[in-house]
Amino acid sequence: PPGTTQDETGALVFAGVPVAELAETYGTPALIVDEAAIRARARQYADGLAARWPNSRATFASKAFPCTAVYRLLAEEGLGIDVAGGGELTLALAAGADPAGLVVHGNAKTEEELRLAVEAGAGTIVVDNFDDIDKLETILSEKRGLSETGSEQGVLVRVTPDIRPDTHEAVSTGQNGSKFGLLLPQAREAIARLRGSDRLRLDGVHVHVGSQILDLDPFAQAVEAVAELGEFAVYDLGGGLGSRYTYTDHPPTVEAYLDAMLDVARKLLPADARILIEPGRSMVAESGVSLYRVVSVKRGGGHTFVAVDGGMGDNLEVSLYQQRFEAAVATRPTGAGELCRLVGRHCESGDTLSADVPLDDPRVGDLIAVPVTGAYTYALSNNYNGARRPPVVFVRDGEHRPVVRRETYADLMRRDLP
Ligand code: LLP
Repeated sequence: PPGTTQDETGALVFAGVPVAELAETYGTPALIVDEAAIRARARQYADGLAARWPNSRATFASKAFPCTAVYRLLAEEGLGIDVAGGGELTLALAAGADPAGLVVHGNAKTEEELRLAVEAGAGTIVVDNFDDIDKLETILSEKRGLSETGSEQGVLVRVTPDIRPDTHEAVSTGQNGSKFGLLLPQAREAIARLRGSDRLRLDGVHVHVGSQILDLDPFAQAVEAVAELGEFAVYDLGGGLGSRYTYTDHPPTVEAYLDAMLDVARKLLPADARILIEPGRSMVAESGVSLYRVVSVKRGGGHTFVAVDGGMGDNLEVSLYQQRFEAAVATRPTGAGELCRLVGRHCESGDTLSADVPLDDPRVGDLIAVPVTGAYTYALSNNYNGARRPPVVFVRDGEHRPVVRRETYADLMRRDLP
């Protein structure tokens, strides 16, 4: 399957390590991450952007994989970090991210969260609504009394351009009726207000039309929409490029994606403007593979149910967005096999990892690999049915090291008060 290779016996190898060795060492379920693949993708974005638009920066949308090891890795690669709210902000700072490169998002940022961002020196706060402006004015008026610098806070206005990309409704954000950002007339009003502020420095505008987008037109249209709002110092063009989950997905390359946006930018945006992008999924999805053990194989009702020791506790993509994944028995050659329904251990029928996947003679105890699970799986993992969230293991140059341990049963009670 995507991202893996096979050795001469047909056993799956991931980032130079046989996956059976990883399962032996860390148990299952486990999320294995190819560190070099994330670094390579980060450079591909940074270099691709710099080659096309020198005054630019790639920022990682950290919601896609908010664990400190991943923050650290992308901060090391020199990327900015997009954080949504106080939790991700705290994680980014703990991992050593430069506050100046933080882009703070959220459609419901509390005053406490905004204060945290301002106090931390976050370079950019994205204004989603007029309440953000009111809260920031209040916070900065207090701060000005206290601090020597009385510095201004850089902000961007998030614009809803009324673009509906072809993706799952739950992750489409650019349409009229979206809860995110401000429609063009309101965005103009917010811009006018911010231009009159002596505490907030309007740097520019932001747009993000959705996620897992496999067609380039919406990205080009989004640039056209922000260009209509006038000339600014900064344009943040968001994230959204889709990843290759299955053999039949063919997402555009990073370079084609950058060209689609920057060809329009070259025509419509000021040549000296700074351009930011915020890839999340496409930065990390293909770097991850989830490992499971088969617990039961049951035939009936027209299906072969292959049930594993994980599921919607560690991967909600299928339940929430009907995402399709490939899968393979990790110890035998992949290829033709019986069409199986790969299901999890949780108490509902929606707990399916792959509805129709060919598996070679699946048996209890077999190791199953589900690739392309680097994005939004760790982020959405949960304790449903008392599931212990899996460890995260980094692999690099044939070596492996755990960066997040598996939860224990004791962890399930950690927050309970007597
Ligand atoms: N910028 C903003 C403001 C965003 O809201 C997002 C994602 C991104 C950038 C990154 O988009 P990406 O490159 O990852 O498509 N939980 C869903 C995905 C939700 C995406 C939310 N926003 C899932 O698991 O599919």
